[in-house]
Amino acid sequence: MGKSGFLRLSGGGSHEHLVMPAKVYSNNVLSSRFRMIKVKPLSDLRVPEPPQFFMVWVPGVDEIPLSVADYDGEVLSFIYEVKGAGTGALSRLGPGSYVGLKGPLGRPLNVVEGSSALLVVGGSGVAPTPYITKYLASRGCRFEVVWGVKKRGELFNLGSVMSGVEYIHVATEDCSIGYCGLASELARELVGRYRYDLIIGVGPKGMLKSLCEVTSGVNTYVVLEAMVKCGVGLCGSCALPNTDKLLCVDGPAFKCGEVMHYLRT
Ligand code: FES
Repeated sequence: MGKSGFLRLSGGGSHEHLVMPAKVYSNNVLSSRFRMIKVKPLSDLRVPEPPQFFMVWVPGVDEIPLSVADYDGEVLSFIYEVKGAGTGALSRLGPGSYVGLKGPLGRPLNVVEGSSALLVVGGSGVAPTPYITKYLASRGCRFEVVWGVKKRGELFNLGSVMSGVEYIHVATEDCSIGYCGLASELARELVGRYRYDLIIGVGPKGMLKSLCEVTSGVNTYVVLEAMVKCGVGLCGSCALPNTDKLLCVDGPAFKCGEVMHYLRT
């Protein structure tokens, strides 16, 4: 059955559909809004590629989709925000606790080597950012980052969890530091001044809609968020209205043209 029936499996039924145990290595506060948990899988893992994600099972509580923030061959890192019971329980896990992992899920980005890129990040879009920048650096890309937040207290030293970044432009909505305004507005100014082969947006729907509008004519990808339950194309909970796309198997990265009708709703 195809997309309409939600019975499609990704990855040919391989082991990313099984839950594997992982031991918590650390679980720390990054800023007033974000935390980072590092876990060590207890069995072999297929190396994730950005912006792929894992379903992280907090035993007895919930299963949460989390984007990979880093993987060093041994330890997986996730940046997350406490929003509900699942992430609340996750925030209370100390070193030595266990979680379950299912993944990596979703499709990887495929960026041409040596591209010049602008990565535009807003809100919880910061979660996959370090792994995306690591990937861009490994592809020999030159890139800059625009990071938009509501206020200064949400910022943390992004440079300490990223590699190869040439420049981080900070934008704050309350004008407390850096550019005064939205990340998409700063992106529009940069796109007017410099040439980029590629733009990648990660953040809330409104920001991604504005980004697609102000960067039309440039090759722009947006990394979306949606309600993810099964993560493997079975349940339909991540269907993007007004498109024929399922976020968990077709995304989470899409070209603007593929999801513009969804972004406008
Ligand atoms: S189809 Fe179930 S989460 Fe995507």
